[in-house]
Amino acid sequence: MPKRIAILISGRGSNMEALIKAAIPETHIALVLSNKADAKGLETAKAHGIPTALLPHKGFATREEYDAALHAILFDHKIDAICLAGFMRILSAEFVNKWPNKILNIHPSLLPAYKGTDTHRRVIEAGEKHHGCSVHFVVPEMDAGPVILQASCPVMPDDTEQSLGERVLKLEHEIYPKALALFAGGKLQVTGNKVLVKE
Ligand code: GRF
Repeated sequence: MPKRIAILISGRGSNMEALIKAAIPETHIALVLSNKADAKGLETAKAHGIPTALLPHKGFATREEYDAALHAILFDHKIDAICLAGFMRILSAEFVNKWPNKILNIHPSLLPAYKGTDTHRRVIEAGEKHHGCSVHFVVPEMDAGPVILQASCPVMPDDTEQSLGERVLKLEHEIYPKALALFAGGKLQVTGNKVLVKE
């Protein structure tokens, strides 16, 4: 039985589309959920025939209440695992702990370096020669979970935030589907903060 995957987005959804287009046999993209009504990715998901849901934060007094509603939707759709793809909300520890090693995220840096936002700008300002992206399992601490796959690229002397971001984004679209395929194929073994890729 393919794993039923929910992809959570807040915007453009290019990583979401890369995951959909990869058509990984061990996965079924069962739901795309956004916290933003104007997320372009919602239209893209619909165009691919994927069920969508909108869960705006308005009306929820606390993060825990929002996350309980999110969990209920995922439960209703019989979701097995979650891919965060530009979902701009921090998930509560309570929520994350309900999905141990079942939430994947793509982050635009070579973790553990450059956690958080504005990674491309900070990498350029720091004069780094290399940058990249990481797919990791989500733990309650932000951008701190076990890394599954990474890809790196050079930082060019004349790079802008945009040119560097585009170079990294291409790599994101390559490694996120690869990481999801490894996960869905049962090839990942997590020990502490390390992920072993089994042959
Ligand atoms: C990507 O850069 C991803 O690494 C970060 O948010 C961005 C989402 O872009 N988490 P998209 O919506 O997938 O195009």
